[in-house]
Amino acid sequence: CGIVGVTGNDNAVSILLEGLEKLEYRGYDSAGIYVNDLNGNDYLVKRKGRISELEAAVGPEVHGSVGIGHTRWATHGVVSVDNAHPQYSEDHRFYLVHNGVIENYKELKAKYLSNTTFTSQTDTEVVVQLVDRFVQTEGMTTKEAFLKTLSLLEGSSYAFLLIDSTDPETLYVAKNKSPLLIGVGDGCNVVCSDALAMLNVTHDFLELHDGEVVTIKPDSVDIEDRDGHKVQRDTFHVDMDAQETDKGPYPYYMLKEIDEQPNVMRKLASLYTEESGKPNVDSQLINAMKEADRLYIVGAGTSYHAGLVGKKLFEKLAHVPTEVHIASEFAYDNPLLSKKPFFIFLSQSGETADSREVLVNVNANNYESLTITNVENSTLFREATYTMLLHAGPEISVASTKAYTAQIGVEAILAKALGEAKEQTIAEEFDIRQQLGLVATGMQAIIDEKDVIDDLAKKYFVPANRAFYIGRGIDQTVSLESALKLKEISYVQAEGFASGELKHGTIALIEEGTPVVGIITQKRTANLTRSNLQETESRGAATFTIVRKGLAEEDDTLIIPDVNELITPLLSVVPAQLIAYYTSLNKGLDVDRPRNLAKSVTVE
Ligand code: G6P
Repeated sequence: CGIVGVTGNDNAVSILLEGLEKLEYRGYDSAGIYVNDLNGNDYLVKRKGRISELEAAVGPEVHGSVGIGHTRWATHGVVSVDNAHPQYSEDHRFYLVHNGVIENYKELKAKYLSNTTFTSQTDTEVVVQLVDRFVQTEGMTTKEAFLKTLSLLEGSSYAFLLIDSTDPETLYVAKNKSPLLIGVGDGCNVVCSDALAMLNVTHDFLELHDGEVVTIKPDSVDIEDRDGHKVQRDTFHVDMDAQETDKGPYPYYMLKEIDEQPNVMRKLASLYTEESGKPNVDSQLINAMKEADRLYIVGAGTSYHAGLVGKKLFEKLAHVPTEVHIASEFAYDNPLLSKKPFFIFLSQSGETADSREVLVNVNANNYESLTITNVENSTLFREATYTMLLHAGPEISVASTKAYTAQIGVEAILAKALGEAKEQTIAEEFDIRQQLGLVATGMQAIIDEKDVIDDLAKKYFVPANRAFYIGRGIDQTVSLESALKLKEISYVQAEGFASGELKHGTIALIEEGTPVVGIITQKRTANLTRSNLQETESRGAATFTIVRKGLAEEDDTLIIPDVNELITPLLSVVPAQLIAYYTSLNKGLDVDRPRNLAKSVTVE
């Protein structure tokens, strides 16, 4: 979910709506705003669906200088206007927006609120009703009631933004686990889940830590820690243009982000390698990694898939055993660790709650960690021992593309640096700077052929109910990411598979016309994958190949330029991204905002 708030600006309505548009990637089931004009008029507007629906519903009479807003990714309660935020108290005095999950909301409701009338099924409403109850029946101030309510929510995750309509200029904020920032403006202050939302108001932000409670007025921001002590904190500057988050001439962000990949590769090469080709990576980080006897890569979704490629890179270039874990599994399964583990967190947003839960445990056990993320000052960035930025620029489309390739690029540089530090000849001979240059040119060549892929998508993937990507070794990891791309934006049921394993059961799903794509970039296994592809063709599949040039044969479908076999995922994934894009586009779907998803999932 995404949260915005503002106090002290007569354009509150447009600030909130523009902010919500920028946060739509965090969820887009329903949205709402509450605005107050400080003259006794206030407005609550909520709608199901996208921010555009909300915007259409906000009439010219809705105005004010203070307000809060929310875009929802449903957890508790179906998608409906009643369940949309802001939630409010029975007497319409308090309004609250929330990101997170209140684990004990049922118990709290039963214990304190048995006589209260509820309008929603949300856990959030329990919180706002509790604040109201403590103010009404225990004579507390709003802040006291808010603090008391927070003290009852142990173990829960939340970012809250509360407003009391009898003293509307003041915003109350609290956070635990879920992200939230305060933006400091000129005569006004704002609140947001992500700085992107408020770049039209300010570039100066204050980070908040778990357990802190903040009171915000137009000209002041008071932060208190969980023991009630005042906290002084400097703002950080976000050096990004509001335009960087615009679509420009592109119909969808996803296509823009696919197209940006060559530049991201060049940027990584220039930032993280010297002209001599040597990696330019924090030497302390490399020393810490060198001391480790095993690397543990943790991530979710596409970032997990980038981690699977990372395992190959670290094992081959640096000869260090590497495990890759799905964050939500690792967090509660307590895998057996080696004597000297080192953790690598991969996360585009730096906010994924599943990954964060693992990092909290890693820190509690004093293990060292590195976060590789696209978002400076994000939670995983702040809480890891070391950090490396992806420098991919904002990724807005829900389906991740340039963050995946940037993650692999950074992993390759890091593996090279670690391998060199460990005097591995293979690493010494691997010219990552030159390779990233080749990758950039190669990506551009594939992108320039997008029309071919558009035709392929129309003919074979749009009519399909299911599809397969197959490959071996590093190609198998790309098959997983390729299938995920297709699933999430085109709703074609797709599976990525180890090509040799298909015949052991899953081949039963192949029917006349089922698209099967073989990813073939590794010399040693090329012919094996070709045979496995043949096996599906003999059973009616429509087969395609994404093949590295040096291995290409006459009938191959899509030929990608030659690069070192260790980093072929940087190229082989691009046609798969485009297949997914054009399948979704030609089916008339919303490419950037697929159903049921959110880009940044800040609940476990
Ligand atoms: C969500 C997104 C995925 C993303 C995953 C991990 O589920 O829809 O596209 O890969 O979160 O996100 P992260 O920001 O940690 O990379």
